[in-house]
Amino acid sequence: MTPYYLTAPIYYVNAAPHLGHAYTTIVADAMTRFARLTGREAMFITGADEHGDKIVQAAARSGRPVRKFTDEMSAAFRALWPELDAEPARFVRTSSPEHREVVRAFLQKIYETGDIYFGEYGGCYCYGCERFYTEKELEDGVCPQHRVKPEYINEKNYFFRMSRYQDRLKQHILDNPGFIRPERYRSEALALLEGDILDDLCISRPKARLDWGIELPFDPDYVCYVWFDALLAYFTALGGPESAEFKHFWPGEHLVAKDILKPHAVFWPTMLMAAGLPLYSRLHVHGYWLSRAAKMSKSIGNVVPPLETARSLGLDAFRYFLLREMRFGSDADFSEEALTVRYNADLANDLGNLFSRVLTMAARYCSGKVPAPGADTETERDLKSLASDSLADFQRLFAGSSFSDALEALWNLVRALNKYVDASAPWTLAAAGDQERLDTVLYTLLECMRKTALHLLPVMPGKSALMLAQLGVPVDEKEGPPSGALNGEAENFGLLPAGAPLAPASNLFPRAETDKSKGRIGKGRATP
Ligand code: MSP
Repeated sequence: MTPYYLTAPIYYVNAAPHLGHAYTTIVADAMTRFARLTGREAMFITGADEHGDKIVQAAARSGRPVRKFTDEMSAAFRALWPELDAEPARFVRTSSPEHREVVRAFLQKIYETGDIYFGEYGGCYCYGCERFYTEKELEDGVCPQHRVKPEYINEKNYFFRMSRYQDRLKQHILDNPGFIRPERYRSEALALLEGDILDDLCISRPKARLDWGIELPFDPDYVCYVWFDALLAYFTALGGPESAEFKHFWPGEHLVAKDILKPHAVFWPTMLMAAGLPLYSRLHVHGYWLSRAAKMSKSIGNVVPPLETARSLGLDAFRYFLLREMRFGSDADFSEEALTVRYNADLANDLGNLFSRVLTMAARYCSGKVPAPGADTETERDLKSLASDSLADFQRLFAGSSFSDALEALWNLVRALNKYVDASAPWTLAAAGDQERLDTVLYTLLECMRKTALHLLPVMPGKSALMLAQLGVPVDEKEGPPSGALNGEAENFGLLPAGAPLAPASNLFPRAETDKSKGRIGKGRATP
C-alpha cells in the first residue's frame, strides 16, 4: 500500500490559535488515523509560518523582538496539538536552519533553470493574506478575506515565471478530477487559470523594507517571499527533496481551508513543475467555521478558544462535533448550543445509552462476559446486512473526506442497534429463560458495538479506546490499534471473542445541560 503523507497548513503565529486552526489539525489527525486503520503507513505534519510582514508587525505590537515573539507563539501552537489528541509527526518552523537550507536549495535550482528573473512590479498587496491581489479578485476594492483595502506596492524584485506553467497546470487539473476536492474548489482553481495570463509570482522582498526572512541564495539584498518559503515546509518535514524519506512519502496530500486555495492550487504546483518534481496527489479544501455568522477573527471579536471549548464536554465530543457538524467543503456555524444539542442527541442518547443499556444487561444476564451466540434469525441477518452497508459507507465516505456523511452512515447502525434492543427485548427473554436467544441478541449487539467503536477511533480516539476496553478488547496502549484494523470489518462478523470480560456498566457521555443563566455548558446526570 502506498504510504500516506498529509499536511495541515503551517499556521501564522501572529495570534493565538483558534477553533479554525484546531479544526484543520484535528481533521488531519483523523484522516491519518483512518489511513493507518486501513493498513497504510501514515503521518501528517503541521508547523509555524514565522516570516513575513504580518509577523513582524505583530511582534512590534507586542513589544517583543521578532525572534522571541515567534519562539513563544510557535511554542503555543505546538503545545496545543497534543491537548487535542492530534499527533503531527513533525512540526516545522520556517525560521529553522533545516528549512532555510531547503528553501535556498530550491530557489537556487529554479534560478539556474531560468525561471526566476529580476523586474519591477506594482500591485495591490494584502498583508493579512501576504499576497498581491488582481483587480478582478478584489471585492468592492477590498480583500475578500480581510475586508481591508490592499496597499499599493511598487518595488524591484525577483519573479518566478509562474505564467509559463499556466496551461500545463490547467491541463493537469482537467485530466485529474481528484486533484482538488471537493469539486467546487476544483472549479474555482480552474477559474483562476481561465482567461487572462497568470501574473508571474513576486518571490522576494528587499531587505531594506523587510529583513525577517530567508535570504535569497543569489542576492543577499533580498529575502524570500513568505508564501514561497512556507509551501516548502511540506518538503522540510520530509528532510528535503533529496532525502530517502521524501522519496518514500512523496507525493503527499494537502489539507487547507478555502482562504489559501490559490497558493496551494496555483503557486505550489507551478513551483513543483519548475523544479521538475512530482505534483502532490490531492488537495482537500474545507470551508470556514463561522461564529455569530462571520469568519472568526480577532478584530470582530468572535474567536472561539479551542481548548476551553474542547474541555466543556470533553475532547472526544468536541472532535466528534467538528467532524459531524461541518459538511466538508461548506461553511458551518459554531455555537455552544449546537455543540450541546449534537452531544446530547448523538453521543449521550444514541451511543452512550446503547453502551449503558447493553453492558448493564450483559452484566446481569451473561455474568459480565461476552456470550457465545446461538443461531441467527431473520432479525440478526437483517441487522448484519444493515451493519455491513453502514460500515462500508462509513469507510468509503471517510476516505473521500465526507466526514459528516460518514458519521451519519455509522449512526444508521447505532440507531438500528437501539431499535434492536427494544424489538428483541432481552429482559423478556431473560424472564422466559431463553438463554440461547438472549446470548445471540447480546452477542450481536456487542459485536456491532465493537465495530462501531473501532470505526470511531480516528474521530474519538479516547472514548473509542474506552469503549473497546469496556467490550473486553482493549487497544494496546503503546502500539495503538493494529494497522489495517478496519479491513474486513464491514463484511466479517463474529470477531469479538466469546468469554472476553465486559465492563459491568458504562457512562460514556453523561447528559449535558445548558445553564442559560450562566451561559455555560455543564454535565448533568447520567443517561438512565
Ligand atoms: N501560514 C499560512 C499557511 C501556509 S501553508 C504552507 C496561513 N496561515 S493561517 O494561520 O492563516 O491559517 C489558515 C488556515 O487555518 C486555514 O486554511 C484553515 O486551515 C485554518 N483556519 C483559519 N480560520 C479558519 C476558520 N474560521 N474556519 C476553518 N478553518 C480556518 O494561511
